[in-house]
Amino acid sequence: MTPEEKKKLAAEAALEYVTPGSIVGVGTGSTVNQFIDLLAENMGDKIKSAVSSSEASTERMQQHGIKVEDLNTVGRMSIYVDGADESNNQLHLIKGGGGALTREKIVAAASDQFICIADDSKLVETLGEFPLPVEVIPMARNLVMEELEKLGGTPRWREGVITDNGNHILDVTNLKIHNALTMETQINQIAGVVTVGLFAHRPADVLILGGDNGVRTITA
Ligand code: 5RP
Repeated sequence: MTPEEKKKLAAEAALEYVTPGSIVGVGTGSTVNQFIDLLAENMGDKIKSAVSSSEASTERMQQHGIKVEDLNTVGRMSIYVDGADESNNQLHLIKGGGGALTREKIVAAASDQFICIADDSKLVETLGEFPLPVEVIPMARNLVMEELEKLGGTPRWREGVITDNGNHILDVTNLKIHNALTMETQINQIAGVVTVGLFAHRPADVLILGGDNGVRTITA
């Protein structure tokens, strides 16, 4: 089975969590794109609206005719569906491969249940093989890089990428993240950091992994 087929299985399974009349928080990425297409096909006329975590997801949903609302007018959502670059067994995540980490963290924080969908390659023993994305205010880029080096990481500027919020992204390698809660706090404390792509203080509640034998669901 290809990774795309596995992602589709996870996206299909996430539809079970969507209830008629609800407002759905929607993440970003190739797995979520499959979820958006399935949501539109199966429940597009049944949900009230969606809150989006990126311009790309907003555009895709609007093309399908799904109403996208501003978080400020909606308040809280019952569920948020998003992908991940890595997850450990505690459902702490690395996110931001697609650069949407800040808005993703905001929508996750405003949702009662976070359903994470991924192909089974995303489940890891220890977070950090995938370069950890950090969104930074452009003028602080070098300062933040120096601070990340002090933490043992090797940051690299994702040159040419500007986030939906007008910021830059650093991708940090060489981090073995044994305590994701502490590292999330530490990196968020660096002046100039907007968000680190570690989701440990607000982890996923349910992880749905698509694999060769169907879906596997892990709950926190
Ligand atoms: C975007 C993200 C995505 O959820 C993450 O990169 C996974 O993407 P994909 O579903 O394409 O593997 O965090 O910022």
